[in-house]
Amino acid sequence: MAFREDFLWGGATAANQCEGGYNEGGRGLANVDVLPTGPDREAVVKGQMKMFDFDEEHFYPAKTAIDMYHRYKEDIALFGEMGFKTYRMSIAWTRIFPNGDEEEPNEDGLKFYEDIFKECHKYGIEPLVTITHFDCPMHLIKEYGSWRNRKLIVFYERFCRVIFNRYKGLVNYWLTFNEINMVMHAPFMAAGLYIGEDANPEQTKYQAAHHLLVASAIATKIAHETDPKNKVGCMVAAGTHYPYSCKPEDVMAGKMRDRDDYFFIDVQSRGVYPAYAIRQLENEGIILHKEEGDDELLKNHTVDFISFSYYMSRVATVDPKVAEMTTGNIFDSVKNPYLESTDWGWQIDPLGLRIAMNDLYDRYQKPLFVVENGLGSVDNPDESGYVQDDYRIKYMADHIKHMKDAVELDGIDLLGYTSWGCIDLVSAGSGEMKKRYGFIYVDRDNEGNGTLARSKKKSFDWYKKVIASNGEDLTN
Ligand code: BG6
Repeated sequence: MAFREDFLWGGATAANQCEGGYNEGGRGLANVDVLPTGPDREAVVKGQMKMFDFDEEHFYPAKTAIDMYHRYKEDIALFGEMGFKTYRMSIAWTRIFPNGDEEEPNEDGLKFYEDIFKECHKYGIEPLVTITHFDCPMHLIKEYGSWRNRKLIVFYERFCRVIFNRYKGLVNYWLTFNEINMVMHAPFMAAGLYIGEDANPEQTKYQAAHHLLVASAIATKIAHETDPKNKVGCMVAAGTHYPYSCKPEDVMAGKMRDRDDYFFIDVQSRGVYPAYAIRQLENEGIILHKEEGDDELLKNHTVDFISFSYYMSRVATVDPKVAEMTTGNIFDSVKNPYLESTDWGWQIDPLGLRIAMNDLYDRYQKPLFVVENGLGSVDNPDESGYVQDDYRIKYMADHIKHMKDAVELDGIDLLGYTSWGCIDLVSAGSGEMKKRYGFIYVDRDNEGNGTLARSKKKSFDWYKKVIASNGEDLTN
């Protein structure tokens, strides 16, 4: 058998993309609430356009999302029916600390997640909790400038202490920051950083990255101290950069692009800033303000496992003439002529998952966890409302097959697999509902119309069978 007996099959969501209830239970406003749909979204996400509150002209899908805030029992029951062993979800920081800098947490928020975790355990589902999935309290953005300010470390530490203590015995798997490398590419969405006219955006982003890395080490330390059973992972948006040609310059270009992603994990997993990063920062005139003790924290509190999202491989070249571009998960890439693309132009590369896993495992030698993978596509329900998503089944079966090879043939220690958006939810990149990933269809459109009713797609029964056979039966 390829996968370990206790392999954690499941699905993944993020609070802001599914909960809604943005102002209920004492919750405060966060960066992720004010990301609009439409053409302005990209500029807001990248910190180029200031959007610190709602306005009349835009639609903000996270306000209601798929209303999981009120429907989580129904949703978790469906996850249970599929046989989930784990459910990856995130805690909205502003439900626990509405402003972010309070001394005392908000009991309503704490109770909400406690109920969710208990509900999961009813079905034998182990929660896998992302402490922050892109969200940052808006008050911390306005008052402190978000993660560019070192004080954020203190507020995050307080948040972590509270949740580790409160959920001791209910949660054992934690991820400190979702796709930590996104701070460089989508600074406002990923870390609440409004860049605007900043004189030196790279300086701002790297300083914020340092704060995130120290905060991640502190969280790891406290998690281990609070409960030795706690396992903490880092989380990176993965996907190897292939050289466009075998020209050595293209190969080097691919390596350099990969380093942009590895940089964070190198620190979180090995505990030191890698040589190439130190040199790069020097060469670019970026001066990191570190405090005494930072290096020790990074060194002594490295992560237990490496988790990552995988949607596609990428391509690098030094020759702009060959560079037909394609869209991807925030980063655009040179188009790979050997691959097909999704409705959103993301290139489909199932073998690339095995390649990425090997790159990560060879580099870190720590257990891996695939915490996001899936197909975002348009689903068209038939007259009876049923979605026959054979394309999704094919996509996932192909990826799981190569993931299995990575375990069986390459000997990689893999803890689990949680497919992204196991229930349809709001797209982070585009804000659309039309871009669906789920096994469960949610009746809601881009403009916020629909009953929010849930129904099972064909892939629901397929995934149930995959889990029941521990990944042995991938047939449609
Ligand atoms: C990852 C994020 O980047 O990709 C998720 O962690 C996101 O939040 C997912 O939803 C898929 O991207 P998109 O843009 O299709 O929602």
